[in-house]
Amino acid sequence: MKNFLDIHTTDKADLRAMIDAARRMKDARNGCPKGTPDAELPLKNRMVALIFEKPSTRTRVSFDLGVRQMGGQTMVLSGQEMQLGHGETIADTARVLSRYVDLIMIRTFEEATLLEMAEYASVPVINGLTNRTHPCQIMADILTYEEHRGPIAGRKVVWSGDGNNVCASLIQAAGQFGFDITFTGPRQLDPEAEWLDFARAAGVQAVVERDPVKAVTGADLVVTDTWVSMHDPQSARERRHNQLRGYQVNKALMAHARPDALFMHCLPAHRDDEVTSEVMDGPNSVVFDEAENRLHAQKAIMRWCLNV
Ligand code: CP
Ligand code: NVA
Repeated sequence: MKNFLDIHTTDKADLRAMIDAARRMKDARNGCPKGTPDAELPLKNRMVALIFEKPSTRTRVSFDLGVRQMGGQTMVLSGQEMQLGHGETIADTARVLSRYVDLIMIRTFEEATLLEMAEYASVPVINGLTNRTHPCQIMADILTYEEHRGPIAGRKVVWSGDGNNVCASLIQAAGQFGFDITFTGPRQLDPEAEWLDFARAAGVQAVVERDPVKAVTGADLVVTDTWVSMHDPQSARERRHNQLRGYQVNKALMAHARPDALFMHCLPAHRDDEVTSEVMDGPNSVVFDEAENRLHAQKAIMRWCLNV
């Protein structure tokens, strides 16, 4: 079973092949209108369940559109409206869904839910975000970087802000795609040491630097994300804003990166908190390309899962 659960647990050569396939599939559409099916329909007669236990705009729309472009059909399910949200076990839900659908994408809270779904489903499972990681986002981001600037291997990537789920997948990707990663943020919000160790063991530099200016100096890519994630308690909001204020990505900080450095944010953004509008709408920002590339990257991920 080929599940797409995380970047560090997926074969490196397979990850590279998915990025290259995504690029080919995007090019093959050649700007074709959004609803037009692809020339090939690898998901013809396939049904895909998209389960959401948290809100989503990009993941929901891009998976749904991607399945349709490849000739398949989708069911978009809200966790709260399923029996899953009312006491049915994850294992039983996985077994039942496997009798109806060919592929499951799930966005959930605890990583354990994703892993249990994958263990008991007899169809592939894709991680559409957990509290701990967000691998589909980072696949889209690798595709985006390489479209604009060529191979990401050997580049310096900097994450400024909360060491959260998106940051975790980015650090894993540093190891798998061979780029250096610097985290800058307050100690309390450091990424898990496990991910930094993974990247280092793969032979890249994975550095924690408290000073954002030092961190960003010489960067090829600067990335940030919301200061308060969906799983964070709202009561933590004020404290986090105080801790993270110094790590805002603004024009003054970007001035220390390389002149051609890109800026990325998975979105949704909180303008003028983690990033200023000036940077987000500026010439080095590729945030909307990232959003589009969710579509293309995930189409390649689904084809890989289904061997089609
Ligand atoms: N970046 C991302 O996953 O966006 P959504 O929460 O809108 O799906
Ligand atoms: N870190 C954010 C990402 C949203 C796509 C969250 O988990 O809420």
